[in-house]
Amino acid sequence: MKTIFSGIQPSGTITLGNYLGAMKQFLDLQHEYNCYFCIVDQHAITVPQDRLELRKNIRSLAAFYLAIGLDPERITLFIQSEVPAHAQAAWMLQCVAYIGELERMTQFKDKSTGRDAVTAGLLTYPPLMAADILLYGTDLVPVGDDQKQHLELTRNLAERFNNKYNDIFTIPEISIPKIGARIMSLQNPNKKMSKSDPNSKGYISMLDTPKQIEKKMKSAVTDSSGIVKYDKENKPGISNLLSIYSILDKTPIAELEKKYEGKGYGEFKADIAQIVIKTIEPIQEKYNKLMESSELDNILDKGAEKANIAANKMLRKMENAMGLGRKTKKIK
Ligand code: TYM
Repeated sequence: MKTIFSGIQPSGTITLGNYLGAMKQFLDLQHEYNCYFCIVDQHAITVPQDRLELRKNIRSLAAFYLAIGLDPERITLFIQSEVPAHAQAAWMLQCVAYIGELERMTQFKDKSTGRDAVTAGLLTYPPLMAADILLYGTDLVPVGDDQKQHLELTRNLAERFNNKYNDIFTIPEISIPKIGARIMSLQNPNKKMSKSDPNSKGYISMLDTPKQIEKKMKSAVTDSSGIVKYDKENKPGISNLLSIYSILDKTPIAELEKKYEGKGYGEFKADIAQIVIKTIEPIQEKYNKLMESSELDNILDKGAEKANIAANKMLRKMENAMGLGRKTKKIK
């Protein structure tokens, strides 16, 4: 069986963008792959976090992974900081990565430009992400479009390591959904929907109430033509909404265009709000139950145990390849 790895940062409540770009793929793929899904808390601290908020977000994200329908009997769900091999492997990969290529990462440029206190962790974020993926011999990484560049770098680092030291890493492929790979902000359709957007009207949180969803959809930025038509260049707002509608309602965009011909944006927005609510409500119900149960901690304990075993094996191979420590050291 081939292996999947993917991670999400616990840096706020996940959004409809996270769900459509990444999590929906996990659901479909869990039956065909050996899956590792990670709450990447060490990635989250590359920017300042409130300690108590972070703890809350970690638990909440774990509950969401399960609430969307991932089967804990099938997948391995764990918290990154509970598997120390990630940070250890990341260090080795930092010694393979070049500063120049890290400085060229769009995410680093976006998060660092114009700021005084840019942490070193923000620069070395991609080797940590490469470590996450490479430790499990990952074949496929399901993510949204914004992670493409990090995946390219992961592949480059793996190839460089294989050539320089020993051929131990699988070169991972990326999996990006055909529609929904980049869900845009409802307030600025030229910017991606993000859980760290200071304007909460820009995103739908997976914990939003029906009222909030209706309001946010109603105030979503579109254009003045009132024609429901997909045209990403000239009508980015309505095109974004059409993508969301199409995925959730499993209806091709062309059919939706026909359905709303001559009807204007009001009716379309009211309908899409109901479709989003219908998707989110059962997830929230499951989420609330999980947050109150001790099941969540048991699943995370088991997940960390399984992940530690797999990750430590690869870590030893990496250490051997680079000549760290003693070859005869007993593997725990
Ligand atoms: P993060 O936490 O920003 O996002 C988690 C996942 O959601 C996708 N995503 C989106 N997809 C569509 N439209 C959007 N507006 C949108 N916003 C986010 C992301 O592409 C991602 O798949 N660096 C990663 C976390 C990570 C990781 C990994 C991912 C760490 N290690 C190893 C895969 C493999 C991140 O910041 O994702």
